Amino acid sequence: MNLVLMGPPGAGKGTQAEYIARKYWIPHISTGDMFRTAIRFGTELGLQAKTLMDAGHLVPDEVAIGIVRERLAERDCAKGFLLDGYPRTCPQAEALDQILASWNKSLDAVINIEVPHEILLLRLTGRRTCSQCGANYHIQFNPPKKTDLCDICGGAVVQRSDDREETVAERLAVYARQTQPLTEYYARRGLLKNVDGAKSLDEVFNDIVTSLK
Ligand code: AP5
Ligand code: MG
Ligand code: ZN
Repeated sequence: MNLVLMGPPGAGKGTQAEYIARKYWIPHISTGDMFRTAIRFGTELGLQAKTLMDAGHLVPDEVAIGIVRERLAERDCAKGFLLDGYPRTCPQAEALDQILASWNKSLDAVINIEVPHEILLLRLTGRRTCSQCGANYHIQFNPPKKTDLCDICGGAVVQRSDDREETVAERLAVYARQTQPLTEYYARRGLLKNVDGAKSLDEVFNDIVTSLK
């Protein structure tokens, strides 16, 4: 299954993507996680992305398109994939269509997780992320079993540098301006599955699975 997971910052894309990837045996491809890994390793890509991400702005389209094209060409994507956080602009969506068409592939569905603004703010400011494996937690809704330690790998659980209040506001504004309009692009093609993301983790996951049947 070739899937895209959309939704504003804090909607629960990364959290649900883990569940979806496990259920359907497809790789979870998060461009945000790829950029954060590049930052951790101090690569050129990381240096380029860091300032933009910390300001809540998007990384240039050609950079995002380039890493996605390379990643989708890898073997584990042959039987499907789940994109999280890509596409975020019209040029990125068009590039994705072209990349897939060149391999005689296409998208099967675009899941759009919808969450009201106030809940997004609560989720983003309370989010904690594993500094080693990128797993997501929330101090209130989904805390790690041991305080500040990742359940999966034991790594330190920290706040993401772009989850500060000013940056969060800018990320939400950028989403509304540049990414939200893409839902229309996918709705016109009958691919869009809207899911109420304000429900509990399990309920949202069940709704996603139902929408894919
Ligand atoms: P990215 O990493 O993609 O961040 P984002 O889109 O802002 O989304 P988040 O990861 O913040 O939220 P999420 O929806 O994954 O929510 P989560 O599951 O963590 O991108 C970061 C930056 O990278 C961008 O700003 C940009 O600069 C750059 N970038 C990335 N891709 C790019 C691209 N294609 N083009 C250009 N630039 C790009 O959940 C949030 C919190 O809520 C967690 O604590 C979680 O535990 C909790 N939670 C989740 N679901 C529930 C629930 N149902 N109930 C209660 N709590 C919940
Ligand atoms: Mg995420
Ligand atoms: Zn971890």
